[in-house]
Amino acid sequence: MSSYDDRYITALVEPDRVHRSVYTDPTLFALEMERLWGQAWIYVGHDSQVPAPGDYYASAIGPQSVIMSRHRDGNVHVLFNRCAHKGAQLVGDSRGHVKAFRCCYHGWVFDTDGTVLTIPRDEGYEGTGLCKGNPLANVQRVPRTECYRGFVFASLAADGPDLRTWLGGAKASIDNLCDRSPEGEVEIASGPLRYLHDCNWKMFVENLNDAMHPMVAHASSSGTARQIARQAFKDVAPEDLPFEVQMLGPFTSDYKFFDQMGVTACAYGHSYMGGTLGMESSYSSVGPYEQGLIDAYGETRAREILATVRHNTVVYPSFTLKCAIQAIRVVRPLAVDRTVIESWVLRLKGAPEEITRRSITYCNLINSSANLVGPDDYEAYHRLQLGLQTDGNDWVSMHRYLGRESTTDDGDLRAIGTSDLSFRNQYRAWMHYMTGAAAP
Ligand code: FES
Ligand SMILES: [Fe+2]
Repeated sequence: MSSYDDRYITALVEPDRVHRSVYTDPTLFALEMERLWGQAWIYVGHDSQVPAPGDYYASAIGPQSVIMSRHRDGNVHVLFNRCAHKGAQLVGDSRGHVKAFRCCYHGWVFDTDGTVLTIPRDEGYEGTGLCKGNPLANVQRVPRTECYRGFVFASLAADGPDLRTWLGGAKASIDNLCDRSPEGEVEIASGPLRYLHDCNWKMFVENLNDAMHPMVAHASSSGTARQIARQAFKDVAPEDLPFEVQMLGPFTSDYKFFDQMGVTACAYGHSYMGGTLGMESSYSSVGPYEQGLIDAYGETRAREILATVRHNTVVYPSFTLKCAIQAIRVVRPLAVDRTVIESWVLRLKGAPEEITRRSITYCNLINSSANLVGPDDYEAYHRLQLGLQTDGNDWVSMHRYLGRESTTDDGDLRAIGTSDLSFRNQYRAWMHYMTGAAAP
């Protein structure tokens, strides 16, 4: 589809820097959609969005429009959102409930697993290659769909590692998120807040483990919250501060704090910050919630779950989560310089509503388009997209603490928190998908 051969693409990424065109070249973006988003496991939705047979949710895998549907046997399918007849999009709204999908154009009807049920005046198709019973007359399923603890991922590639293997070290982040529920399950609690960014999708994904930016970029939001806390709440104990202040404050922690959090890089480009120390470590506890967790798991296990505070796990390239505040953000690239970020709140089943309210407050304050913190990042991405189209230097740095990582018992890489390790790790995965280089 393009004149870019593997040698050209390979030259764009060096061990400590990446060529600016990976953020600005529309041809590379198209290749990413085909090779990276077309091969990796991409987050489609959560199975709680389709609780009953006949429920569906329209989603996307890169530029491909897909439907996540619950069939009457209870299975969740991911179908291409395209009628088998002449190709009309089958569902136009984002969610709904159907007995069967009926195409708006000529009325072909398909079951919720894609099987064609009715073709109007089907005698006209007899003896042709498009009659009932012929798989080509069905709505096609995405080659692979797998679910991990309710999170549904799909891959456009017929071959590749299974989802659990591919998640690798990031799997424990999803586990921690779900284990925070006394019932061990989560569900979607809200529709998404959608935030259109005028930048390349990688700027968002790279930012999440960039620990050199918060104390600078978020000084106006988080720094102000700290100042207010010092002035207006000077006699108030930290755990009694309004939750909004507790959430905003840590963004302007000092470099030492972020260094101590550490960053871990896993196979296939995944990474996370924290583990035993995180941005959420100093949040006040919600008594009834903790007791509920102890009742469910026992004191030792409950304390272990609560003490795990991984901040911003990146499941490269489409899915990011914050375990301790039950929030996920989903990456939907639209063009080389346009990306929608969806922010979803999760409910921990069996936990008090106050826990869900905290997550809603967090998403409103930190992740939404009308919040205090996200626009700081947005401004930086906007300027990156502009700056990288300006001459003077073709390269983007990822030098920091190069070669100063260590290998964990699980085979992941671990470094001081302000290392550029997660950037380098993402580009190893990027190269794997883009050129077929060895799996990272
Ligand atoms: S395009 Fe769907 S029925 Fe004809
Ligand atoms: Fe930020």
